[in-house]
Amino acid sequence: MTTAYPEQATPCVLLDRRKLEANIASMQATCRTHGVELRPHIKTHKMVEVARRQLAAGAAGLTCAKLGEAEAMLPSGVRSLFVAHSLVDHAQAPRIAALGDRLDDFRVAVTSEVHAPALTQVARAAGRKLAVMMAVDTGLGREGLRSPDDAQRLATLIARSPNLELHGFYTHEGHFYGAPRDQLAEKSIELIERLDRVRNAIDPGLPIWPGCSVSARLIASHAAGRVQAVRPGAYMFGDLALSRKTGVMSAGDVAVQVLATVVDKPEPGLALIDAGSKTFSSDRTADNIYALAADGRDLTVVRVNEEHGYVRGEAVATLAVGERVAFTPAHICPVINLTDEVVVTADSGIESKWKVDARGKTQ
Ligand SMILES: Cc1ncc(COP(=O)(O)O)c(C=O)c1O
Repeated sequence: MTTAYPEQATPCVLLDRRKLEANIASMQATCRTHGVELRPHIKTHKMVEVARRQLAAGAAGLTCAKLGEAEAMLPSGVRSLFVAHSLVDHAQAPRIAALGDRLDDFRVAVTSEVHAPALTQVARAAGRKLAVMMAVDTGLGREGLRSPDDAQRLATLIARSPNLELHGFYTHEGHFYGAPRDQLAEKSIELIERLDRVRNAIDPGLPIWPGCSVSARLIASHAAGRVQAVRPGAYMFGDLALSRKTGVMSAGDVAVQVLATVVDKPEPGLALIDAGSKTFSSDRTADNIYALAADGRDLTVVRVNEEHGYVRGEAVATLAVGERVAFTPAHICPVINLTDEVVVTADSGIESKWKVDARGKTQ
């Protein structure tokens, strides 16, 4: 029976420091080789300790979704930061001004012709000329300009605004997670070409910043001077989406696991664990898996209630009540946002605990 880390209460999130550092170094090396900046999105890790390591490895800056995340990352020593969201709330103006004062390079997103006037009002309230990155939709269908003509009109609007200055273009190609693996390279090239056309029609001197964890390496390797930065978020941790679905990392490189305890076996073939949706979140794979045993045993979390996980699979018969099992979750981002701290391991022992500094910073 496995009683891994008996001194540690479960459920908890384990972070293998060596794998984390290897994943950070590997993405940085790819970017360095191809002359592309790495500007990781911190929404996955939300931890100053991880941001510090990304910056020390050579990251040019950080990307955040919300101002609260940006504020929480300041102790990392970051000097260049991009908030990739459609800001519209005047009440946030003082926080925007304060971030601008603290950073060498602070950029926010401008995401449509409807959003631009609202952002101009916010910038005016902040008493600033804001550096903006224009969002271009490349297939996700969320924020971003739908056509080159729309982008051109928005660029004209920005050029007329005394409070906005266009500094580049970005996209979030989240739909790549659902694409067949053998099409990812081709889709990455198409994406670069699409962004390149938009940029060249507006200002060939401006940078392009695409690149999520599925596409970042492919985009970097096909960048050829056209792409200036990539902004992956989940790459340094990994999950089933990155290892099992898209295959952009191996299962052995996934750095984060949920450690859970078998608390009951109420019927043959079913084990209950102490981790449910309040640990794993309700996110699952397309084939309805919440998590898989990280050591490769046939143990699948097939259903969750708030504080229970339902485990099925051949290896359930071998499990004992009280046994601990480490699971790889379907989607790591919400798992981190559900925990106050992660348990950092190295050489099979607990090394330290890191606070999830931007946990719940959705404002
Ligand atoms: C704007 C933006 N940039 C970058 C990312 C990072 O994506 P990933 O975690 O897939 O690397 C996200 C993820 O949601 C995003 O919304």
